[in-house]
Amino acid sequence: MIITAADFFSRAPAELPPDAEDAFFSAIRNRNSTFKRTYRARFQSLDEAVVRAFASRSMRPEQILDVGVSSGATTLDLRAALLAAGYDPRITATDLSLHAELVSLGKGVTALVSPDGHVLQIALAGWSVRPWRRRLDWITGMWAIRPLLLSWAQRQVENSNSRRPVLLVSPRLRDHPSIRVVEDDVLKRRPEFEAKFQFVRAANILNHDYFNEDQLRAAVRNLRAYLAGPGSLLLIVRSLHNGEQHGSLFELGDDGQLSVCQRFGDGSEIEQLALAS
Ligand SMILES: C[S@@+](CC[C@H](N)C(=O)[O-])C[C@H]1O[C@@H](n2cnc3c(N)ncnc32)[C@H](O)[C@@H]1O
Repeated sequence: MIITAADFFSRAPAELPPDAEDAFFSAIRNRNSTFKRTYRARFQSLDEAVVRAFASRSMRPEQILDVGVSSGATTLDLRAALLAAGYDPRITATDLSLHAELVSLGKGVTALVSPDGHVLQIALAGWSVRPWRRRLDWITGMWAIRPLLLSWAQRQVENSNSRRPVLLVSPRLRDHPSIRVVEDDVLKRRPEFEAKFQFVRAANILNHDYFNEDQLRAAVRNLRAYLAGPGSLLLIVRSLHNGEQHGSLFELGDDGQLSVCQRFGDGSEIEQLALAS
């Protein structure tokens, strides 16, 4: 069972089992139809490969950017792997939607809502309900109930005065001394990030299911512009449901272009697009 947002945000970090945290974020769907799906401890071999890539280049990255981090669980994993290998960089962890509100709708009903009014979760008497339809709903009958519940909740949200702002990241990331959390759209250029990071990671965000080719090109151009200079590295990777990781590690050349220096699995599905962007 997925815990409710009210429960999630009222627990101390130590009282939040890692699986419950992962399940909570993984059930959130953004307005742009992307999911906050994330699970810790699945990038171990990738993190080790990143450490080896730094070591083989005698790189000591001071600034790292991790985009589309969801709860930040995998950012914490990366940070732990780097720390264990003797690196102590500052990490900027970004996501499109980090700010939300817990809105009381009365009679034991609460909703987790993005600032633009998109309902992310509804909780009824301690049970969390996904506002979005899934295939199983055709069997369970929820396909008819979910939209009704959602439109009722949306009306109630507009009229409610009981709202509490919350930050949609793991409690272990809030106030972390070495990880800064920033709300950011990877499709929009952010001047303060330009030429700043020796390593940029885009895990499970730049793929054809989420974005069209123009958007992917814009995102790659942005991430390339955020690299600190020649020799800086960009990792684009996607996890499959069977646990396989397919990604490409790119290096920025003196000519300002990316080249592939390492592949994981079959490489990134947007490798060619990234090289041509
Ligand atoms: C599937 S999760 C990946 C989480 C984590 N990187 C991992 O691999 O476990 C995709 C994340 O990308 C974020 N996202 C979607 N569109 C985005 C955008 N335009 N800019 C930044 N982040 C975005 C979503 O909010 C979500 O948290």
